[in-house]
Amino acid sequence: MSRHDFPIPVVHQHRIVFTHAAFAPENRELATLLEEGGGRRALVLVENQVAAAWPGLVESIGGYFSAMAVELAGIHLLPGGESAKADDEIARRIWELIATAHLDRHSYLLAIGGGAFLDVAGYAAATAHRGVRLIRFPTTTLAQDDSGVGVKCAINAFGKKNWVGSFAVPFAVINDLDFLHTQPEETRRAGLIEAVKVALVKDRGFFEWIEANLAPLAALEKSVLETCVERSAMLHARHIAEGGDPFETGSSRPLDFGHWAAHKLESLTSYQLPHDRAVAVGLALDTLYAARSGMLAAATADRVLAVLRVLKLAHYHPALDQRDAGGRRLVLDGLDEFREHLGGELTVLMPRDIGRCEDIHHFNGEILGRCIDELREMPGDE
Ligand SMILES: NC(=O)c1ccc[n+]([C@@H]2O[C@H](COP(=O)([O-])OP(=O)(O)OC[C@H]3O[C@@H](n4cnc5c(N)ncnc54)[C@H](O)[C@@H]3O)[C@@H](O)[C@H]2O)c1
Ligand SMILES: [Zn+2]
Repeated sequence: MSRHDFPIPVVHQHRIVFTHAAFAPENRELATLLEEGGGRRALVLVENQVAAAWPGLVESIGGYFSAMAVELAGIHLLPGGESAKADDEIARRIWELIATAHLDRHSYLLAIGGGAFLDVAGYAAATAHRGVRLIRFPTTTLAQDDSGVGVKCAINAFGKKNWVGSFAVPFAVINDLDFLHTQPEETRRAGLIEAVKVALVKDRGFFEWIEANLAPLAALEKSVLETCVERSAMLHARHIAEGGDPFETGSSRPLDFGHWAAHKLESLTSYQLPHDRAVAVGLALDTLYAARSGMLAAATADRVLAVLRVLKLAHYHPALDQRDAGGRRLVLDGLDEFREHLGGELTVLMPRDIGRCEDIHHFNGEILGRCIDELREMPGDE
């Protein structure tokens, strides 16, 4: 008998660019990345809605590549939004496009769209040939300030969100901040919750910046929105790259603050409640729970809830009060599902102060219930 354990260290490069007008001929960011990688072909996928919001985008991409040695293997428009990742239909279409375009593992797949579109394109890219190089162009607030700079991709399956997927570091992420300004207003605003979240759990200075800029942020003023998105993206990326657990093998998930309830609310509403709006409710619930269970000063919880109120991010949703036949709130099942997802002990991050957190492993159902009652009765946005 014998056993041999070989460590296999692999270093990934997570390249993140913030820019404007990424496909303007004079913008060299994309060209430099493509040349650095040495690949010879690129296939471009654009989410329908984004193409519709950006007349001339497809032409400018064509023009950009005409001046480059990298061959453009096609530009295709595809549907996005949550329904694009509801099953594997769009992923299969992308596999077919990759096969027909003869992309190899050194080729590039450029994906331009919201978080849902990038998830399905990322899943297809990660699995075709066991991985072609993905260059993401996130186009929503949430995708630019959080999901697009992450290293995960997934589609939904078996009634569960993000059930099939992979950890796959993209070749590059290009946050073209111009895209932020054509989203529907609700999407542009709601994605700010991930910035509030990461500020609350990681960076007191950023949280105080948000508080100091609340009015222009609530008005979605261009430069303030862009700064907020960039600071949030950098905190997310830095945590992934330097936090010691990029592929989430441990149980501690600082970037998932407020997410146990959020994921459950998304599924209780059959994904009618989008991720960002569910996170606002989940964040409000866990912040209040931290206060009511004595971990966080009540005045600090009030500050966090005031930020949500001014940013018009709703802290309550009726799905929090859905109950089973025995009268038990269904959202509480979210704790078991989160534990199952972590694959070990229930571990949920709780704030002790702005920018300082601690993991807990048990929830008091009675306190949680009272927090939900309190959120329901709390006044809404200003
Ligand atoms: N992979 C990860 O690590 C991760 C992390 C968090 C969230 N997510 C996923 O991200 C998804 C949510 O992403 P989202 O909030 O970006 O929503 P989304 O992708 O559903 O996009 C929202 C809407 O905005 C439209 N749109 C996008 N960009 C636009 C633009 N620039 N101009 C005009 N319209 C535009 C889209 O067509 C869509 O209708 C969820 O599926 C969630 O599970 C993934
Ligand atoms: Zn999230």
